[in-house]
This record gives sequence, structure tokens and C-alpha cells, in this order.
Amino acid sequence: MAMFFKKKQKKEFEVDYNNIPEHIAIIMDGNGRWAKKRALPRSAGHAAGAKTLDKIVRFAESIGVKYVTVYAFSTENWKRPKAEVDALMRLMIDYLDDYKRVLGGENIRIKIIGRREELSDEINEKINIVENATKDNDKITLTLAVNYGGREEITYAAGKIAQKVKNGELGADDITEETFAKELYTNYLPEPDLIIRPSGELRLSNFLLWQSAYSEFWFSDICWPDFSKDDLLKAISDFQHRNRRFGGV
Ligand code: FPP
Repeated sequence: MAMFFKKKQKKEFEVDYNNIPEHIAIIMDGNGRWAKKRALPRSAGHAAGAKTLDKIVRFAESIGVKYVTVYAFSTENWKRPKAEVDALMRLMIDYLDDYKRVLGGENIRIKIIGRREELSDEINEKINIVENATKDNDKITLTLAVNYGGREEITYAAGKIAQKVKNGELGADDITEETFAKELYTNYLPEPDLIIRPSGELRLSNFLLWQSAYSEFWFSDICWPDFSKDDLLKAISDFQHRNRRFGGV
């Protein structure tokens, strides 16, 4: 089934609903600039970004996307002013507390990837509750990358592999892409088909370094809080016109 959508700027795009990407990853960028344009504190931009996340996940679920993975806080984000870090952590706690209201009834499984050690006991406790409460939901999986960095993830996986070799559970010859990927935080996820980064930046910023080897990228100038359902459809439509060869011909 193919449907046409008319964008406000009178651009038309076609979406093939039989070819929806299974896994979409998003770098939710531009919250700070969105807030600045409105003379609001940066934390207001992040709060608006969290609302956009709910809207986009529900919509993604409704069109058949099976996995959405978002960059919520990177291992480098600790360098931000303490007030902003505190506000982001508070937002995270409220989001996890409120998951039933914001995402409840939508059959959404919620998972968190990243280093837990630096997160507060309160956040870790909420993460455990939400992951456990949603573990049997199977319509869509929303993964929040929190205190996540691609290099940290790969280093952590290498450490786990080294430990297994040391313990005699794994031989050096058994280290393959498959055995390695099993030690990544994302071992329950397929690789992302499409990675979206709004707000005009054209980089990966340490997000899903291993997993993005053959992902398609989609960039736009929209700040994340303004990201709409139509923008998602436009990204999907562009994705459907790419020729994915995975290194073949
Ligand atoms: C980047 O925009 C965004 C972040 C570092 C945080 C993203 C977090 C959210 C959208 C909020 C919440 C998520 C959950 C799950 C509660 P930026 O601040 O770098 O924007 P700028 O480049 O315009 O300054």
C-alpha cells in the first residue's frame, strides 16, 4: 500500500507501508537552540523534546516500526553545566515514573542502554522497574541511550570478551563479529536501518558506532522539539528510495 502525503511546503512524498524500516534510531538534537529561540531555559527545550519523543514513538508504532532507539544522554553530556545535567536527570526520572501515563497501554517495551555506574540509585531503581514492567510488551521497543557512548560500549564488550577468554569460556579463535556483538548493550536489537539527526549537525557523535555500519542516514534542519509525524514519514520515504547494497553490487 502506497500513500501520498502533501507537505506544508507543497512537497509530495510517497510512503510504502509494506516497507517500513524495522529499526529507526534518532539523535534528538536541537533542544537547546529550540529553547533559545523562545528565550526559554535549555531545560525547557529538553522537556519539549521528551514530549516529541512520546508523539513520535506512538506514531512509529502505529505505522509498524518495531524498534526506536534514541540518544537521551551521552557519556560526554556530563560536561554540560550542572544545572542542565540535573534538569536532564530529573526529566529522565519523571519520564520513567510517568511511563504508564505517557506510553502506557501502547504495548511498548522500554529498555535502557549505557553505563549504569554513574547514574544515581534513584534512576537505576526506576530503570529496573520500567524495564521489568514492560518486558512482555511486543508491539514496539523503545530504547533510551542514557550515559551511552559507542566507544565506551565497544570497550566494555572487549573487556567482557577478554574475561571470557581468561575464564576459558571462549577461545581466541571464537572471537567473531557475532560473538562480539553479543556483548554489546544492544544485543537484543537488530541494527538500525535508518538513523535520523535533526537540527543541522551532520555527525554521529559517538552514537551506535558498531551498529551503524550499514545504516542509512537522514539529516534535517528541524530542531527535535519541532519534529513532526510528517518529518518521520519524509525520512522514511527518502529511506525507501535508497539502494541498500550492504557492500554488494
Ligand atoms: C541534544 O540537544 C539533546 C540532548 C543532549 C538531550 C536529549 C534529551 C531529551 C530530548 C530529553 C529527554 C529524554 C527522555 C527519555 C526523558 P542539545 O541540547 O545539544 O541542543 P543544541 O545543540 O541546540 O544546544
